Amino acid sequence: MKPIKKAVIPAAGFGTRFLPFTKAVPKEMLPIVDTPTIEYIVREALESGIEEVLIIINSEKECIRTHFGHNRLLESFLASKNKTAELEMVKELPSKIKVEFTYQEEQLGLGHAVLCAESFANGEPFALLLGDDVYVGNTMPATKQLIQAYNQTNASVLGTMEVSMEDVSKYGICKPIQNETGSLLQLESVIEKPTPAEAPSRLAIGGRYILTPRIFEYLKTQKRGVGGEIQLTDSILSLMSEEKVYSLAIDGKRYDIGSKKGFLEATIDFSLQREDLSSAMQELINTHKK
Ligand code: UTP
Repeated sequence: MKPIKKAVIPAAGFGTRFLPFTKAVPKEMLPIVDTPTIEYIVREALESGIEEVLIIINSEKECIRTHFGHNRLLESFLASKNKTAELEMVKELPSKIKVEFTYQEEQLGLGHAVLCAESFANGEPFALLLGDDVYVGNTMPATKQLIQAYNQTNASVLGTMEVSMEDVSKYGICKPIQNETGSLLQLESVIEKPTPAEAPSRLAIGGRYILTPRIFEYLKTQKRGVGGEIQLTDSILSLMSEEKVYSLAIDGKRYDIGSKKGFLEATIDFSLQREDLSSAMQELINTHKK
């Protein structure tokens, strides 16, 4: 069994829910306190044992690439001022994990973005982390939980969370095979953005996956689905006809930074967790309660 050492982060979408901000700045660069969303995601990959990351961008999103490179001017400025902590902060990540980039020329959907990673995956299973979903794992990073499930099953695993019936139409929804219980479930089918009447469960795919390379065969011929987009969920359904696919309930909290509410919630929660900011944030919350 091949170990999971590669991760793919699609970040080439237009982020229309966050306009006008996303006209010039990618939503993946939205700061949670002082750190871009996508940096949290790359750090999750690193803490999960991933050695190589591919970020999928478009030509208007070069600042993501800039963020993961070396800024020589800034580094020499910080060195000249003896700002060693800040210098370490900007140099650390590029030295710990290999981050590569590729371009999705046309925004045809998540399935199409993932297909751009075929040569990077090079026939190996890989982790997929959506560029606008941040997780805080309770016991360990979300991707590490999925890698453990992959090591157990040797199959694709979809990270899930339970959503309300009103929200099922925003997600890919899983149908476990009958009578399965527990957090790791073998799936019978998946459906993208079902109506509440169509939804087979409330188990929603929450932006974290382990996929076997066979997925690319289905993505290559995948017809457009919901919203006229090439949907990854549709190809995962086809993959199930050939290989087992599992879902794992992620033990942790997810923030959908691409939605305004998710972004605001992350700002509050992350500030409350920070030693330097928790009392200031608490004070702000108390003031606004009145
Ligand atoms: P979303 O559907 O949340 O992103 O995709 P979006 O389409 O950019 O955003 P809205 O809905 O218009 O606000 C989840 C992730 O997949 C990437 C996005 O950048 C995001 O990180 N994505 C989506 C692509 O890379 N390519 C696509 O064609 C679509």
